[in-house]
Amino acid sequence: MSRCKIKIGIIGCGMIAEFHISALSALDDAEVIGVFDTSAERSRAFAQKHGIEVYETMDALLASAAEVVAICTPSGLHASLAIAALHAGKNVVVEKPVALTNEDCERILEAEKTSGKVCAVVSQLRYADGIRQAKEILDSGALGKPVLCDLYMKYYREKKYYEGSWRGTFAMDGGGALMNQGIHGIDVLRYLVGDVKIVNGKVRTLVHDIEVEDTAVASVQFVNGALGVIEGTTSVRPGYPRRIEIHCEKGSMLIEETEIVSVDLPDFDPNKEEKDPDFAGFKDPAAISAEGHLRQYKNILAAVRGEAELFYTAKEASETVKTILAIYESSKTDRDIHLN
Ligand SMILES: NC(=O)c1ccc[n+]([C@@H]2O[C@H](COP(=O)([O-])OP(=O)(O)OC[C@H]3O[C@@H](n4cnc5c(N)ncnc54)[C@H](O)[C@@H]3O)[C@@H](O)[C@H]2O)c1
Repeated sequence: MSRCKIKIGIIGCGMIAEFHISALSALDDAEVIGVFDTSAERSRAFAQKHGIEVYETMDALLASAAEVVAICTPSGLHASLAIAALHAGKNVVVEKPVALTNEDCERILEAEKTSGKVCAVVSQLRYADGIRQAKEILDSGALGKPVLCDLYMKYYREKKYYEGSWRGTFAMDGGGALMNQGIHGIDVLRYLVGDVKIVNGKVRTLVHDIEVEDTAVASVQFVNGALGVIEGTTSVRPGYPRRIEIHCEKGSMLIEETEIVSVDLPDFDPNKEEKDPDFAGFKDPAAISAEGHLRQYKNILAAVRGEAELFYTAKEASETVKTILAIYESSKTDRDIHLN
């Protein structure tokens, strides 16, 4: 007997919403039923393209039969929309970053707790085979104690990416090279190495005509004692694949985007048969595949059905936002910031 499909409503139907609907349409236990976007023109076109309903207002979407609401709006709206949806009794999938301030992260966690619903946050790189394998290698202890663990994200975004957009604004993006693009790598670095204890950062706007940083560096100390650096920019041509370097006492591992490119350990065979589909967007933000969203949705829908634990939680997503905000605070105050 086929299972009842989980009904999903989408809020905001710009670039990333296409990846959500593409991922969900590949799942036979999910059905996107409708969309709400403040641009009536965009929601009509999106609804027509995908054969779904248009909701004229957010309230209409919240009153619909949707059991899950996927929030794909500019980042500055994530907290208020997620909280409204949770209070309306909906499960929520919110795009990264979960929220733009620590206070809003806390408000979301509180709303999740009181509603008893699932609040999931997109972080599709955690579902990439290469990242999972890197985590297994580190957890196996084969590399030994982590010593220097770094993220280098040297991306390029065209000027038109920011022009006339919410992107690059304090209110809607909350930050730039780190809060928008770097968040993926910082989240993976935290996943692989663990929580960050102390940061000291500098953020600058060097190239783009935007309110937030287009370039950032930080030194970090992890809770486990390892040191490292985070570099992030959207200002260097031509744009390079993101690199994560994990150097440990017995060996080192280098990751480009989501692929392990080397494990320097005597006799180590990563035994990797297939490459991940393209998760990378180092030159073009739309040059990613929906595969990561699809893998994450499989877990989210299982959690909504009560059949699995949510693998990536809003609490975990909040910790990544907290790390980024600490780098901003350090740059502003010119001092070390200790995370709780
Ligand atoms: N996971 C990823 O790899 C990834 C990639 C790109 C973007 N994102 C995230 O997705 C979110 C959206 O980014 P995008 O590139 O799709 O932006 P976009 O500008 O292409 O689309 C945003 C849409 O939201 C609509 N909107 C604005 N205010 C609204 C409101 N109050 N209610 C309903 N709709 C509203 C806009 O009209 C627009 O159609 C951002 O938070 C971004 O960080 C994630």
